[in-house]
Parts: sequence; structure tokens; C-alpha cells
Amino acid sequence: MAGRRAKIHAVGTYVPERIVTNDDLSLNLDTSDEWISTRTGIRERRIASDAEAASDLGAGAARRALKAAAVSPDQLDLIITASLSPDMLFPATASLISGLIGAGAAAAFDLSAACTGFIYALAVGESFIVSGRAEKVLVIGADAVSKMIDWSDRGTAVLFGDAAGAVLLGPAAEGEEGIIGFDLGNDPAGAGELSLPAGGSRLPASEETVAGGQHFLRMNGPEVFRFATRIVAASSRRVVEQHGLRMEDIDIFIPHQANIRIIDAAARKLRIAPEKVFSNIERYGNTSCASIPLCLDEAERQGRLKRGDLVLMTGFGAGLSWGSCIVRWQ
Ligand code: UT7
Repeated sequence: MAGRRAKIHAVGTYVPERIVTNDDLSLNLDTSDEWISTRTGIRERRIASDAEAASDLGAGAARRALKAAAVSPDQLDLIITASLSPDMLFPATASLISGLIGAGAAAAFDLSAACTGFIYALAVGESFIVSGRAEKVLVIGADAVSKMIDWSDRGTAVLFGDAAGAVLLGPAAEGEEGIIGFDLGNDPAGAGELSLPAGGSRLPASEETVAGGQHFLRMNGPEVFRFATRIVAASSRRVVEQHGLRMEDIDIFIPHQANIRIIDAAARKLRIAPEKVFSNIERYGNTSCASIPLCLDEAERQGRLKRGDLVLMTGFGAGLSWGSCIVRWQ
């Protein structure tokens, strides 16, 4: 397996049907389309139905990625699902997706790295391919964060949307670069800035945790904003330099879609031309682990992501964690 490389063979995405606009949110919340769109770049988001959980969205994306690659579910060796809103604490959402798509005996596990989860899962999937331990790995980012939101908290309720994205990884052909490398990291000092406090072994569910609203996502927005604008630029620069590349070599920059002001600030710091920066936050909001594959899929459909392009993807989120990846699109 010496010298074996991995590549992304196909992408698939799935979003729930229901669209919720900023004006819809303003009906029940002290907010406005003007505030949300100027402070975040978001105009609308998709919200899962009561019947839909992360696994349903993930299965939708998985089916589309497999169809695009002409691979049947029973050919998969491994399914990794990154999610901060898994169906349950266990079994793994990857296991539930495996059942929904009919993936047979493929290994399946979840990876918890909040919104950075997709990049971390891509790194793990790549290692399985490069080591020869697997031939076909499905990496899924699936989140229904709307289920974890306190709809009376305007600081978080306006930001998130539900979606899933999946990529099929396999070996690259002779001479193809495929996945070039990663920069991954975490700053535990910021662990308290973004969390879902209760329902785990630290604060098991109780009447008090329910009454205290501790089963909802809680975020110190301005602190996470400061971290994000710093780390997106720093991690992107690091991964590019570590692989002997220059920022000018990047054809398309796909950052995690949390706030258009974070994206613009990072692009400015990195001196990446605006036409090379991809964003669809306007229509989907922050879809957590799904945001980067959702952009990959859309960029490819729009002809903005072409064969041979050098792609830089950067994620960040609770932890506080971050991850960047460079891929030659082939
Ligand atoms: O993927 C996970 C990572 N998450 C993120 O990256 C999110 C990072 N943080 C952010 O994107 C921004 O901090 C927010 C969008 C969450 C907030 O924007 P901000 O510019 O940092 O606003 P702020 O929290 O400093 O609040 C400014 C004002 C406050 O009012 P006062 O105290 O100045 O009167 C807030 O109460 O804006 C108010 N505000 C709102 N007003 C209308 C906060 N949320 C809203 C809202 N509508 N939805």
C-alpha cells in the first residue's frame, strides 16, 4: 500500500423540504430580517420535520453520493458520521444510516467534533484508505441542529439550519493527488463557549436540567466569533504552507458556513479573491457538519468546482476545534 492516496469519488447532499425565512422567525422572536441578514448573511434555512432526525438526512445524502459513484451500499467497508445532533447518544447514527441504506456489515461509527466534524471525519476516512484498511468509505456530515435549539434564544435560533452531505472516499488512481493533507487542532480552554450542557454523564437528564433549559445548544456568540476569525485564517495558512503550496494556488475556498462576516474576514486576511470564496449560507444558515459538503456539491453543480481544481476547506466549532483540508478535485 506504499504511496497509496485517497480521493473523493462522489458527493451527495440532502436538505429537508421546509424553508423558514428570517421573516418567519421574526413572528415569534424579537429579531428582524435586517438584523439577521446583515449580522450573519443568512436569509433562510431548512428545518427538518418532526419525523426527521439526523439519520434520515444522512441517509438521503448517502444514497445520492452512492448513486453518483455507481456504488451499491453493500460494497461499503466503513461509514463515518459526523454530527452534533445524533439521533441518540448510542447506537451511532452511522449505524442507523447503515440500516436505512442497506449497507450490510460495513463498520459504522460516529465522530464527535462539533461543526469541525466533517473535516475530522474526512481525515479519519482518508487514513483508512491510505493504510489499505478500507477500499470504500462513506463520510457523512448530518445535522438536525434545529432539534437542539431554544427557539426563544435569538442569539442561536436564527443561525442554524438542517442538512446532510456525504462523500464517498476510495483510492486515488496512479498519479492522482486526491486528498493532499490536513491541519487539525483543538483548544480545550474554549470548551465552555459552545456546548449542549445536559443529557450526558456530567449532567444527566433531570427535572432541573429540563426546567433550566440545559438540553439546548448554548453559545457565547462574540467569543466564538473572535476564535473563528482568527483560526480559519491561521489553520488555512498552515495547511497550505505545510504542503509546499501558496494561497494563490487555491482555486476555491470553502469555509464552514457559520457567519458571512467570519468568511469575509478570513478571506481578507488570507488575501483570497472574493470570486474564489464559496458560500451558500444565505439559503441554508449554519448546517454544522453538513455545511462543507453542501458547498462542495453546489459548487460542482454550478461549475465553480472543476476537475483539477485545488480546494481548501476549513471548519471550526465547539471544542473549540478546527480543521483544514486541501484536495485536488479529480
Ligand atoms: O458553527 C458554530 C460556530 N458558531 C459561530 O461561529 C457563531 C459565531 N458568532 C456569531 O456569528 C455572532 O457572534 C452572532 C451572529 C451569534 C451574534 O452577532 P454579534 O454581532 O456578535 O452580536 P452580539 O452577540 O454582540 O449582540 C449584539 C446585539 C445585542 O444587543 P445589545 O446588547 O447591543 O442591545 C444582542 O442582544 O444584537 C442583539 N442580538 C440580536 N438582535 C436581533 C443578538 N441576536 C439578535 C437577533 N436579532 N437574532
